Amino acid sequence: MDELAQKYRKHFPILDTSCYMISNSLGAMPADAEKELMHYTHEWKTEGVEAWHSWFPLVDRVSGLFGKIIGAEAEDVTLIHNLTIGSALVASCLDFSGKRNKVVFTELHFPTISYLWHGWQNYGAKVHLVKSDDGITTDVQKIIDAIDEETLIVPISHVYFRSGALQDIKLVIEKAHSVGALVMIDSYQAAGVVPIDVKALNVDILASGVLKWLCGGPGAAFMYVRRDLQERFRPAIRGWLGDKEPFDFIMPDVNFAQGMHRFLTSSIQVPCLYTAIPALKMMGETGIETIRKKSLLMTQRIFDKCDEYGFKANTPREAHRRGGHVTVDPNGIRQSKLSTKEINDELIRRRFTTDYRPPFGIRIAPHFYNTMDEVDSIMEEMKKLTA
Ligand SMILES: Cc1ncc(COP(=O)(O)O)c(C=O)c1O
Repeated sequence: MDELAQKYRKHFPILDTSCYMISNSLGAMPADAEKELMHYTHEWKTEGVEAWHSWFPLVDRVSGLFGKIIGAEAEDVTLIHNLTIGSALVASCLDFSGKRNKVVFTELHFPTISYLWHGWQNYGAKVHLVKSDDGITTDVQKIIDAIDEETLIVPISHVYFRSGALQDIKLVIEKAHSVGALVMIDSYQAAGVVPIDVKALNVDILASGVLKWLCGGPGAAFMYVRRDLQERFRPAIRGWLGDKEPFDFIMPDVNFAQGMHRFLTSSIQVPCLYTAIPALKMMGETGIETIRKKSLLMTQRIFDKCDEYGFKANTPREAHRRGGHVTVDPNGIRQSKLSTKEINDELIRRRFTTDYRPPFGIRIAPHFYNTMDEVDSIMEEMKKLTA
């Protein structure tokens, strides 16, 4: 067993009973998440309202842990409810009334982004959807060509959720900045498995939930905004916790907090902040570069097994073009008796945890706690099911 699996497997109980390969959907729960929740209920039970003195500082503490994953300081990150709301917060800072009103994104983005920005057409946004030729990835040149002087913002997915293809965001950021547009990175499928340094890349905005590769459970998401943009942003979606002095309860309008707290809107998701701590700590200690090295070895093994067993991999093979999961269609080359969906259902029944994203196949997402033997065994099981 490799060093990372040896060190961390014991902290993730589900690995004892399942070949858990779905960390791009819901990361395995660290045993300590349960302890954190017990701590939370104990505080609530014994301290009552006084527990807020421990709960409010958690926002900055956990923002700092998330920041470490993406190369940001704690003060440039804050808690948001989810990526959709984070995008709406950003959208509500922008003025779409002028000529610069274009929002450029690809059709491979997670649907929530598309829905949100289409909805924002009610407020003047003009959506420009960049087509993909193969449904797997988007030619970066096509994205770059679509970004022009009328572009206000480019929401971009770092890794595409169906195929696991890694998008070249550096070129997109450079082009956007050269014409005065902003870029917002959806890092959901990348944070925790693909290294990113927001400062080196001069990222404007980045957001991600912690439930997937970051193993923090559902409910909490974080947003980074480049420091020089923070004061310029005055979200129209605003709430009492975004005020400089929230406990002065001053009416009628907000007096924005300095920095990232202006994005806090209102009541915070305390239990989810607690559950996010253990894995963020582990992964911050380990470093995403180390996790990525291991991830590339495991995803390479999936490609090798696909070739050996005659399965089609609907994920780009080059290391610099793939994220943490490989989407495998066992029926992509030869049709077996079972459909791809039936194969996925049977895998799950046998405790090989994956998911199916039609029409591309079964997503296999090994993480730092998985072993190469597990990768081999899931591929072997798939082979048996197609025999
Ligand atoms: C790429 C990507 N973006 C966004 C989301 C979810 O966004 P939200 O936080 O709004 O639920 C997901 C999956 O749940 C995703 O895979």
